[in-house]
Amino acid sequence: MAFTIAIDGPAASGKGTISREVARVFGCAHLDTGLLYRAVGRRMLDGEPPIEAARALCAADLEVEGLRTPGVGDAASKVAVIPEVRAALVDFQRAFARRDGGAVLDGRDIGTVICPEAEAKLFVIASPEVRARRRYDEYVTAGESVDFDRVLEDVRARDERDMGRADAPLRPAEDAVQIDTTTLSIDEAVATAIAAIEARG
Ligand code: C5P
Repeated sequence: MAFTIAIDGPAASGKGTISREVARVFGCAHLDTGLLYRAVGRRMLDGEPPIEAARALCAADLEVEGLRTPGVGDAASKVAVIPEVRAALVDFQRAFARRDGGAVLDGRDIGTVICPEAEAKLFVIASPEVRARRRYDEYVTAGESVDFDRVLEDVRARDERDMGRADAPLRPAEDAVQIDTTTLSIDEAVATAIAAIEARG
């Protein structure tokens, strides 16, 4: 059966971890849609015009190393405000959402724009400080040298850009269940998400 679970939220809210676990538990495919924007951002940093990069994007671009660095994240949120870039990425995401066996998509506009008909929608949030701490820890683990205050500033700037843009801004769908992970462990957040999805039948 093809069913879609849409999981949206700001950077480092926990939606990525929750999405991977939800996909594992329900045995379905998972697409981190942020990677699409990161791949376009990466190609822009390499000198390619972002609209052309988005139109030419292929699955192999998502495997490129170094997509999860702060610089590429920043470039991703800049190309994500361009309507033609967003439009070029819609078909890929919708086709993924309808694959047999079901799919989990996580991002910013899955429940509102990409898959408004999704069977279950979650909106995952956490305080900016906690999200910055998580991102900081990830970078340190990955061997990146970063400054915590820079990461916090970056989280805030990205929130503003994601929520303030005219095309597909970050916001919860009316029928989304909100999960605040600020004080939750990973296991608690995943259990809350699974319970919310199962409650949707
Ligand atoms: O989730 P992640 O941090 O990898 O996303 C990078 C950037 O891509 C976000 O800051 C956002 O601007 C953009 N994005 C988006 N819509 C999505 C997923 C990501 O605009 N569905």
